[in-house]
Amino acid sequence: MELRDDPEPMVVFQEVSKVYPGRKTLFTKGGEDVVALDRVSFEIRVGEIFALVGESGSGKTTCGRLLVRLEKTTGGRILFEGSRIDLLRRSEMKAFRRRVQMIFQDPYQSLNPQLTVFQTVVEPLVIHGHGSHRQREEKVQSVLEEVGLKPASDFFFRYPHQLSGGQRQRVAVARAMVVEPRFVVADEPVSMLDASIQAQILNMLLDLKERYSLTLLFITHDLASARYVSDRVAVIYRGKIMEYGPTEAVIQNPLHPYTRLLIRAAPSARNRGEILPVAACPVDLYHAPTHTGCRFAARCPNCTPQCREKEADLFHVEAGHYAACYLHYG
Ligand SMILES: Nc1ncnc2c1ncn2[C@@H]1O[C@H](COP(=O)(O)OP(=O)(O)OP(=O)(O)O)[C@@H](O)[C@H]1O
Ligand SMILES: [Mg+2]
Repeated sequence: MELRDDPEPMVVFQEVSKVYPGRKTLFTKGGEDVVALDRVSFEIRVGEIFALVGESGSGKTTCGRLLVRLEKTTGGRILFEGSRIDLLRRSEMKAFRRRVQMIFQDPYQSLNPQLTVFQTVVEPLVIHGHGSHRQREEKVQSVLEEVGLKPASDFFFRYPHQLSGGQRQRVAVARAMVVEPRFVVADEPVSMLDASIQAQILNMLLDLKERYSLTLLFITHDLASARYVSDRVAVIYRGKIMEYGPTEAVIQNPLHPYTRLLIRAAPSARNRGEILPVAACPVDLYHAPTHTGCRFAARCPNCTPQCREKEADLFHVEAGHYAACYLHYG
């Protein structure tokens, strides 16, 4: 389905699918294909933080990688500022690569251990041919101080192994910000860090958003941090958006049984409630070739025969709040 809440969104996902072909091994001709995303539609508005929440393997990183064009879609379209990103010409691609940046989950892996902090942060400026040597140095200095590495010159010649996890993530953020992007995908930017550092990094992202008038896709498995930073949220389960809407509405009035489960399992998101005993899905119904019913059916306390037969589409329930569940069909 196509969702059009905002006349000029920054990003539009229209029925985006991504299928990874089954891997060949020494002993098999090829495994089953993995449907990482199944007709995913959402929009990200200019200036908002849009959170994508879901458990491991639900397709969050795949959305981010498709959006920055690290990978190609199998079906559907992605628009960035009104243009299809799969149709960008070479000349447009360079500008796109500058305007859209990604911050990865693991600052231990995302930084090259052989580059100093200065070399890491200056590299995108060199690639994009920005300014003179002197101007680049000034830019690196100012961006390092904006991400809280002060005085910047103390960090210039350090290597990643000489930094804490939080400092590494700040360097990764500085590298993304140095080209002054319009849009950033932050893929679980704090999940590898200590709780005390997490809040500092989230606050820094909120500061940068204001300073640079950024728009962000914030990917997380943690509803509490989604609530802390985001304006709107989409809840994804096994490659499908189950619920989508203003963050407070989704957390205060979750419509989909899966969102309710996530909220109960994350006490800090709303209350200190019990952890719901979830009946584990015994077989992977979704990846079975005969699948037509709701992919959450086997775990759902509200499952009906209709759910097992055909999966519900996203349905507009109230003020920009959508759910893919028959419980809310009019
Ligand atoms: N390159 C790949 N080849 C084959 N399958 C892949 C590939 N990348 C991802 N997948 C599969 O696609 C699905 C979605 O993966 P994805 O990394 O997007 O999930 P995620 O929500 O980011 O999970 P996590 O919270 O663990 O990071 C998973 O089943 C994963 O195994
Ligand atoms: Mg991921």
